[in-house]
Amino acid sequence: MKSLPAKQRIRDAFDRAATSYDTAAVLQRQVCEHLLARFDLPEKPATLSILDAGCGTGYGTRLLRARWPSAHLSIVDFAPAMLDLARNAADTCTTADIEALPFDEQSFDVWWSSLTLQWCNADTVFAEAARVLRPHGRLAVSTLGPGTFRELRSAFARVDDYRHTLPFSEPAMIRQSLQNAGFSGISLQRETLTQHYPDLKTLLHAVKAIGANPVGPGARSGMMGRNAWQSLEIAYEQHRTPEGLPASYDVILGYAER
Ligand SMILES: C[S@@+](CC[C@H](N)C(=O)[O-])C[C@H]1O[C@@H](n2cnc3c(N)ncnc32)[C@H](O)[C@@H]1O
Repeated sequence: MKSLPAKQRIRDAFDRAATSYDTAAVLQRQVCEHLLARFDLPEKPATLSILDAGCGTGYGTRLLRARWPSAHLSIVDFAPAMLDLARNAADTCTTADIEALPFDEQSFDVWWSSLTLQWCNADTVFAEAARVLRPHGRLAVSTLGPGTFRELRSAFARVDDYRHTLPFSEPAMIRQSLQNAGFSGISLQRETLTQHYPDLKTLLHAVKAIGANPVGPGARSGMMGRNAWQSLEIAYEQHRTPEGLPASYDVILGYAER
């Protein structure tokens, strides 16, 4: 089983980041757009009921609203400050953990979640998604694969043995978790998106500004010394391209039917 950061730490980091999230979340917006662009509903019930699980500030919620204006949109996030910023985009707003949804069985036609799964236990999340979806309900999920932040890991490997990223899952693990939960018609797509930054400080600041800094057991607990920081900067500089310092995101988009 993946060793994730403690839930309270994840929630606190996202709560603190709520006001800086939208300025920094360029990649997250791009992923929502890609997830929606490839998502279609073959049959639309008269009143479509959609859940955005881990809605953050509601960028995905607003896209869903624009695509299906008459749908009933419910949103869930466990960070209250995030949820507050998404509130006016939804019909129903609930502070909750997507691993234990406070909804009855078969409540939704669509379960949507963008870039939240990597903070959770996938088996638990998909079992909950299957429980709250109606038969033939649709799931759309995006998450990050192990190639995410490969430059950062390679630069840190020259400096220390601590963990510097989350334990990201391979697509095969995501598929297995979806199958375990009883989903069918599973389609997984993978693409690398790259963000560029002028320097390492700006790059790390951007990760913190969206609240994605906790990495779990094995993380460095104290500040880095000056020498270690300089070695890290030199190691990361080897990845520089004409556009700047790259940060790769190994994006996995998943679609399935309950
Ligand atoms: C990277 S943000 C993505 C937000 C939004 N979906 C987007 O694409 O902009 C991850 C969000 O998931 C929430 N989150 C993480 N784990 C969660 C959990 N177990 N239950 C509910 N929300 C969770 C965080 O509070 C945060 O708002």
